[in-house]
Amino acid sequence: MASKVTVIGTGNFGSTVAFILAMRGSCHEVVLRGRNVDVAKGKALDMSQAANAAREHTIVRAAEGPEDMKDSQIVVITAGAPRTPGMSRDDLLVKNAEIVKNYSLEIKKYAPNAIVVVVSNPLDVMTYVALKYTGFPRERVLGMAGILDAARMAHFIYEKLGYGAGQIRATVMGGHGDTMVPLPKFTTVAGVPIDDLLDSEEIGEIVKKTRNGGAQIVNLLGDGSAYYAPAKSTAVMVDAILKDTKQIHSCAVMLQGEYGYSDMVSGVPVMIGAGGAEQVIEMTLKTLQRTRFKNSLASVKDMVDALYANHFFDDCDKVESQAKESTKNEK
Ligand code: 2OP
Repeated sequence: MASKVTVIGTGNFGSTVAFILAMRGSCHEVVLRGRNVDVAKGKALDMSQAANAAREHTIVRAAEGPEDMKDSQIVVITAGAPRTPGMSRDDLLVKNAEIVKNYSLEIKKYAPNAIVVVVSNPLDVMTYVALKYTGFPRERVLGMAGILDAARMAHFIYEKLGYGAGQIRATVMGGHGDTMVPLPKFTTVAGVPIDDLLDSEEIGEIVKKTRNGGAQIVNLLGDGSAYYAPAKSTAVMVDAILKDTKQIHSCAVMLQGEYGYSDMVSGVPVMIGAGGAEQVIEMTLKTLQRTRFKNSLASVKDMVDALYANHFFDDCDKVESQAKESTKNEK
């Protein structure tokens, strides 16, 4: 069967995800869905032509409407208001929750078997919103972030060491926010623990820089947020699903008892395959790591609770029962 990925959002982030997939020939078809169909068409044409230059078979086309998501194996949601200088990821909360909710309802209707990869911010909360409004099992709704945060940490380790680029395996857990949990104890350079290469002050600096990695780029750009590393990290997840690699990546998923939490989304190591988040991996954490993870979960929970308090999820059950009703009527 032809493989198809829909990318929602034609800004820098969404376009770059689509471009990377096209350049790698990751799938047969990439559908770009944006509010401005002409812009989506222009970018799709440009990328299809680039795929020809790269001698890849991927065709990129623009969606005219939500029905063009039909038969997508994967739908990536990048849509949302971008972060601007001085704005935290959390400021985007309600605005982006509405956007993600509407697209989730469309995915539920037009691509009911798809795996959803969420990258809109605040990412862990948006993943929670997508889970609620698609009603999909947790295996089929994943948030991107751990790969990105680990890539940033690896870069800062390289900057400090001056060697080892491409050999650094960093680990970051927790929410994709200011309370993310970089894990130096689970970080190596070609298998050498970073403890053996850097002192605790240097490692502390790297941890701080990692947490601030997104904001640093927001401030430098002055208009919008990072997209090359976020897009590449998203493409890594898409490729892992399409190729059924069964490799471990840190991603945001709904916890169902793992690490002692339920009904909460957070970044943890996940084995990704054709089924999406096929297995959540539980690492043994030390007391301090457990506390930091707990704090990170608490900050995500605060935002989810704020949405509940705003009655954001009030229509969620109604949406579910309407869906059941229409399935019944179709029978
Ligand atoms: C970042 O950290 C956009 O959240 C994304 O750059």
